[in-house]
Amino acid sequence: MKQKFYDLRSDTITLPTRDMRKAMYRADVGDDVYGEDPTVIKLQELAAKITGKRDALFIPSGSMGNLIPLMINGGRGNEILAQKNSHILHYELSSAAALAGVTIVPVEGERGIIEPTELAKHVRPDIYYMPRVSMISVENTHNKEGGSCWSLEELKAVSDFAKKQNLLLHMDGARLFNACIAKGIAAKRYCGLVDTVTFCLSKGLGAPVGAVLCGSTKFIEEARRIRKMLGAGMRQAGFMAAAGIYALEHHIERLADDHRHASQIAQALTEKSWATINPSDVETNILYFDTPNHDAVQVAAILKKRGIVCGPSGEKTIRMVTHLGIDDQDAEEICKVISNCSI
Ligand SMILES: Cc1ncc(COP(=O)(O)O)c(C=O)c1O
Repeated sequence: MKQKFYDLRSDTITLPTRDMRKAMYRADVGDDVYGEDPTVIKLQELAAKITGKRDALFIPSGSMGNLIPLMINGGRGNEILAQKNSHILHYELSSAAALAGVTIVPVEGERGIIEPTELAKHVRPDIYYMPRVSMISVENTHNKEGGSCWSLEELKAVSDFAKKQNLLLHMDGARLFNACIAKGIAAKRYCGLVDTVTFCLSKGLGAPVGAVLCGSTKFIEEARRIRKMLGAGMRQAGFMAAAGIYALEHHIERLADDHRHASQIAQALTEKSWATINPSDVETNILYFDTPNHDAVQVAAILKKRGIVCGPSGEKTIRMVTHLGIDDQDAEEICKVISNCSI
């Protein structure tokens, strides 16, 4: 019998479900560069409604959703403040510097949450030979910090600080809806505290491609120009937008399953001498565990032989991510494999 593999490398590996494919197949499409794709328009209207923003723009990736605000609002020669382990800082090829002309300044913040006192350390005096800080970017959930979520109070404190300092606030909400489900907070409430927000359709929500950038009408007008400048004017993009609409309508509530599965797996790992993890750190669908006495590459290779595919994310750290390709039975099986695995 062929061995079954449980792929926990990322929630980006999900494949469109049968019903999502049907929605894509049936989508009405047009040339979106002319603004004539009805399905793209519908997705953008839906995203604006969900986030409570005036307007929204369908974009090909979360990375572009972080880059466009920097290109519009960053200002060449300026600085952006972001938590030190942010995706924008580590995994977007310094596009901030290369394409937007801004430097990202890493800010301390436990589990990805930044506090105004930390931000204040980086706001420079208004002296002509010093860079200006123009924006703050927050990440919710925070990927490299273990899928951690912001509370409304924490975000409000940063939002108030940003207003007081006249700084714009962007939210990298690649996994915004994981935070919404885990915290029981409506997207609108989070998004009401920031100027711009990007959320991904192709992570936990399970669409094949895309993200949506949301903000004011004026901001989105400009964002549309920058998207085209970056070569991402998309023509009959409605096929992809249809998957996004389907995901927003059907795949948000089910994120709770992914969170539950991640907690179950974390619990199974606590029993193992080769893994160190605090299950209460697992808030959403991302978990990290340490392998203090083993090379993470070696542990990942052994797990793979037993059917669990996961990625080392440090010399002695492994990341696992649950997603819609893993159901209750799979999660149970993964826990069993872990329980039976000695290293
Ligand atoms: C927190 C976060 N932001 C942004 C991105 C970028 O998304 P994309 O891969 O669609 O460019 C990712 C991707 O994993 C992410 O985890």
